[in-house]
Amino acid sequence: MKRERLDKVLANMGFGTRKEVKQLVKQGRITVDGTTATDPGMHVIPEEQEISVDDEPLTYKRWIYVMLNKPPGVISATEDARHETVVDLLPYEWATKVHPVGRLDIDTEGLLLLTNDGQLSHNLLSPKKKVDKEYFARIEGRVTEQHVQAFAKGVELEDFTTLPARLEILSSGDVSEIKVTIMEGKFHQVKRMFAAFGLQVIYLKRIRMGSLHLDESLEPGEYRELTEEELDALRGRER
Ligand code: URA
Repeated sequence: MKRERLDKVLANMGFGTRKEVKQLVKQGRITVDGTTATDPGMHVIPEEQEISVDDEPLTYKRWIYVMLNKPPGVISATEDARHETVVDLLPYEWATKVHPVGRLDIDTEGLLLLTNDGQLSHNLLSPKKKVDKEYFARIEGRVTEQHVQAFAKGVELEDFTTLPARLEILSSGDVSEIKVTIMEGKFHQVKRMFAAFGLQVIYLKRIRMGSLHLDESLEPGEYRELTEEELDALRGRER
């Protein structure tokens, strides 16, 4: 377990900037294992030691799990030379630690999980695990029962044939509204599946990944931490 500076730990936990938390220490408001801290630079092991602010013990969170309703126009990466990235939308203490679990195109909206838990991330992205992803989309053109059947068989693209996908038509017309569930996450997959039938996706939003549903109360650009229940379900354990 890592030893870290007390002021850094407190700042990471949202108690203010390094400068502000130094003040808290100076004011004698921080204790470590029951002893008042005097040196903001003292080294602590946050998982093992009891750090209190105004006698309130803190629970240190090593693992961060954030659900973001990704807005259009931001890149699913931790850094990019030209565009704003999804981590830029998060508070500094999370932004420096997490990575997005998979990618959504720049114009795609909706559910994106960000975490520093590499194991969970790996499990969710592993092709072997076949974690399904559900999208809502608007399609230019008429989506019909034939497309539903073709998707159910798997769609042949240039470089591979997709696994069977579930297509549900919500409305069909010059612009159709659909829900589609796919089991892979290849580059531009949903757009390419519709393009194979000459149809263009004009709006795409991910609404579910495995057991994790997008919290519809989150506006685009808003985020929240996962609940314990959501986390257990994602890990495949019921509470
Ligand atoms: N399929 C796409 O085409 N784009 C996405 O962002 C996600 C799935």
